[in-house]
Amino acid sequence: MRILITGGAGYIGSHTAFVLLEKGHDVTVFDNFATSTRISLDRVERLAGRTVSCIEGDLRDRPAVAAAVHEAKPAAVVHFAGLKSVGESTARPLLYVANNVSGTVNLLDAMDAAGVRRFIFSSSATVYGAAGEGPCAEEDPLAVTNPYGRTKLMVEEILRDLAASDARWGIAVLRYFNPVGAHESGSLGEAPQGTPSNLVPLVGQVAAGTRAHVDVYGGDYPTRDGTGVRDYIHVMDLAAGHLAALERVLGLSGVGTWNLGTGRGHSVLEIIRTYAKVSRREIPYRVVGRRDGDVATSRADVAKARRELGWRARRGLLEMIEDHWRWQSLNPSGYRS
Ligand code: WQD
Repeated sequence: MRILITGGAGYIGSHTAFVLLEKGHDVTVFDNFATSTRISLDRVERLAGRTVSCIEGDLRDRPAVAAAVHEAKPAAVVHFAGLKSVGESTARPLLYVANNVSGTVNLLDAMDAAGVRRFIFSSSATVYGAAGEGPCAEEDPLAVTNPYGRTKLMVEEILRDLAASDARWGIAVLRYFNPVGAHESGSLGEAPQGTPSNLVPLVGQVAAGTRAHVDVYGGDYPTRDGTGVRDYIHVMDLAAGHLAALERVLGLSGVGTWNLGTGRGHSVLEIIRTYAKVSRREIPYRVVGRRDGDVATSRADVAKARRELGWRARRGLLEMIEDHWRWQSLNPSGYRS
């Protein structure tokens, strides 16, 4: 089947494109390359030994979106394209609504007009807000704490209304926890522009010597060692989760919502220690104040995805860091040659 992947040149999008190609699907990518580069698609093609069709365009451009869906005539759409910085969303909320909400509505309208109604949406654990100690389950109450998270929740609500209005839609909402790592070849990976806001790419730069130290945001959380605990999931496990969701959504009427995490939590200091062990490099850090909007612990209840998608994450923290370090070492400047 042909699958249209919006944001397919990005970190999770490119890994998912690879997994879909490997499964025998055909892939068309729609991307504005605002936060990604076409080089990642060249790497995907080389790794998979197959070509990727690519349409450059912006979700805010309704005619361009309609033309892309009409041209690709996909069996399903996997929607990654969007902005994802919590900090930037607080400074520029309208930019986030335009890209993440209006852009998605444009895409859904184009799909409806083309009779394409199988949709997989990239949501985020951030919709659970401060979940407390326990794992987050899909039916838990949602409480967003920043404009980025609000755009994810807004789109989730729009999707539920859409499916309720027209039973022909089959929609998967996938709530990612913390995606990290890279394809084991070291040829695909996360290439943040400027200073990374996420922990693992930042620690990788300290290990590589391109950054002096890590600021640990808070050492007084109610956790094992006082630092923030997150459910880190290998990006290849995440990509496999999309394949499982695609197979489920083809026969689905309505909306299914699934967590994509491991169910295990690791602290900031555990990440730093593991990275130092894997890279055999010193990783200097200093504990500073908490970052606004951060929660102490975020961890997934993974039972529903296992039961209904037949999927679970298989890679542990060591493999996540080993694969990230290989990517970091082979691509110190990301995809920039
Ligand atoms: C992880 C832990 C920080 C940087 C965000 C988004 C979420 C999703 C994933 C898009 C936390 C600590 C971090 C640093 C630190 N993105 N940290 N020093 O905030 O859990 O999730 O990215 O979907 O929506 O909210 O990820 O990697 O920024 O932070 O101590 O320099 O590392 O406090 O405990 P986060 P993160």
